[in-house]
Amino acid sequence: MKKLVPDYIEKLEVYQAGKPIDELAREKGLTRISKLASNENPLGPSPFAIREMTNALWDTHRYPDMAAHELKSALCELYRLKPQNIILGNGSEGIMGYICRAFLQPDEEVITSENTFIGFLILAKSVGAKLIQVPRLPDYKYDVKAMAAKISDKTKIVYLANPDNPTGTYITKEEFDYLMKHVPSHTIVILDEAYFEFAQDQWDYPDSMTYRYDNVITLRTFSKAYGISGVRCGYGFGHEYLIGNLHKVKLPFEPGLIAQKGAFGALKDYPHLKRTLELNKSEKARLVDYLIHHGINPISSVTNFVTFKTASEEASNDLYQGLLNFGVIIRPLRANLMPDHVRISIGTTEEMNHLYEAFDQILPEFIKKFGAN
Ligand SMILES: Cc1ncc(COP(=O)(O)O)c(C=O)c1O
Repeated sequence: MKKLVPDYIEKLEVYQAGKPIDELAREKGLTRISKLASNENPLGPSPFAIREMTNALWDTHRYPDMAAHELKSALCELYRLKPQNIILGNGSEGIMGYICRAFLQPDEEVITSENTFIGFLILAKSVGAKLIQVPRLPDYKYDVKAMAAKISDKTKIVYLANPDNPTGTYITKEEFDYLMKHVPSHTIVILDEAYFEFAQDQWDYPDSMTYRYDNVITLRTFSKAYGISGVRCGYGFGHEYLIGNLHKVKLPFEPGLIAQKGAFGALKDYPHLKRTLELNKSEKARLVDYLIHHGINPISSVTNFVTFKTASEEASNDLYQGLLNFGVIIRPLRANLMPDHVRISIGTTEEMNHLYEAFDQILPEFIKKFGAN
């Protein structure tokens, strides 16, 4: 076949999602499956969101409201913003795609950390940008000083996942202030706050809503704490100039009607969000205790997942496959270039019990073979 795509597209690898429940059920003939692989909300969607989405099914012969008036108004009220400062998309990743399309040109530089959220890395590479990935500090945090030192005339975007996936670490207020002192006005900072709701209680977490930088775009999502990843809805905030230009490249009817309605319902259901955050807090503490009790030191996480190092790629795969046999899906991190690490999303109490039952069966042998970490 004649070469029809630029080199930078040919070199890309397709994004690998967490293993779907149905796939594992088919492969192993299992009925009890706990998916702890994609940082989703284990409680499911809020009942408000379900009601809004169900009612909206009757209107799906119509195009959705392009201005997404209802959802944008709810976001404006919550965050005291103007509609011209908000963009919606098919997940926050959809908006990352618009950012790359609108602002990035081939060979322009993007600075970020090593091993960070793959979705963004693929999008930046897909427009031919040059990625500069700065090594992390030994405690897995972003090395903000080293990132700032890499900024040059060619730096178009600095991408920060705060908190970060897959490590669960975060940049503090002080680190953010330091970085912003070194970011020139020709550089756009993407603050990807997909896990904001889980981290907001940290006293030194820099909630981007309390800053007003002209060159920062905040991204948040309904996929994680709000529990509707299946319908794809995310939102971004930024200066009118940035948001206005993003709207020029955005597909007009994204997000779709069901996503808009689901997000609206989810946003209004504060009790569901509260239950989600409480469950996450208690089950995450239980997981950390369990791991430490077995000699495994997890990375300190302010998110809805916990990541830890194993002895090797082989050990990570062994653990992953071993848990699959019991119907528990976790995430090995080879694609993040952390092949000797695995990530476990926090599930319901029942799902976590399932994990511990499986762990109890396989961990003694695993630790004998590979050591803890
Ligand atoms: C850091 C980070 N940003 C963005 C996303 C994508 O979220 P969405 O479903 O809103 O596209 C994810 C999903 O895992 C993520 O971990």
